[in-house]
Amino acid sequence: MDTVVFSLDGNNHFKNAICQQLGYEAGEITFHQFPDEETLVKIDTELANKSAIFILSLDRPDVKIASLIFAVETARELGANKVGLIAPYLAYMRQDKRFHPGEGISSTYFAKLLSTYVDWLITVDPHLHRRHSLDEIFTIPSKVLHAAPAIAQWIKSNVTQPVLIGPDKESEQWVAEIANAIQAPFLIVEKQRFSDTDVKATVPQLANYADHTPVVVDDIISTAATMIETVRHITSLATKPVYCVGVHAVFSGDAYQNLLAAGTAGVATCNTIAHPSNKIDLSNLIVCEGEKYFTPA
Ligand code: R5P
Repeated sequence: MDTVVFSLDGNNHFKNAICQQLGYEAGEITFHQFPDEETLVKIDTELANKSAIFILSLDRPDVKIASLIFAVETARELGANKVGLIAPYLAYMRQDKRFHPGEGISSTYFAKLLSTYVDWLITVDPHLHRRHSLDEIFTIPSKVLHAAPAIAQWIKSNVTQPVLIGPDKESEQWVAEIANAIQAPFLIVEKQRFSDTDVKATVPQLANYADHTPVVVDDIISTAATMIETVRHITSLATKPVYCVGVHAVFSGDAYQNLLAAGTAGVATCNTIAHPSNKIDLSNLIVCEGEKYFTPA
């Protein structure tokens, strides 16, 4: 079965890597935006009896989801017999419970929506906290890829004598894995969040690592409040300059500028969302691990 790969809204680096390394066809798709902001999808690649892969990072999901649905439906009407989605960043996973009375559980609804339209999903380090698997909310097959080995390699190559800092309890899972991979120590911050942007952090035992370079590692940097508060706290303890590493560079509003202004020695993110801080390329991860999954039998 032939496979055609489309990249929607950036992520061309992943499409190019997949097509070059696996010999898949690069699909042609355009989106026309009408003056009233409705969107028209046009696919200019033959799809009859082919498998289609769409690559779309789902940050800013509300403005992207209609285009994705229209593209998938168009592909099916043009004859695609299987449609998969590579979403390097999967949005809405943090709202995994009703935190306050009356709230919706967005992750469940978003998973239900995607499961309705695509046949399979590949993503990178979705925010699984209270849930342990995407299977709890998706009804389609899904595959989770992990950025930890690539992040570990980046830290090893760029930071001398690191001590890894996880900015909250949830981060321990990946911070521990990265630290073990490069045989570095790690500490977990005690974090309290009072609002979207008001976060308080304290790092126990950092004084024991005064000769190490702190590297804060988190899965998502959104408002950057978590990173900024952690950097400020560590800096106030007069340690070496602090590096920040994130998997997903969501960076809402002025978050990136605010993080740089907080005095970090540098920010490195993976290229799951295109951003100036991208320094860790996950193309090989997507191609090598993804191939096992999406290569047609
Ligand atoms: C929270 O549980 C996540 O792992 C991140 O720590 C959080 O999403 C970061 O958000 P922000 O950048 O808005 O502080």
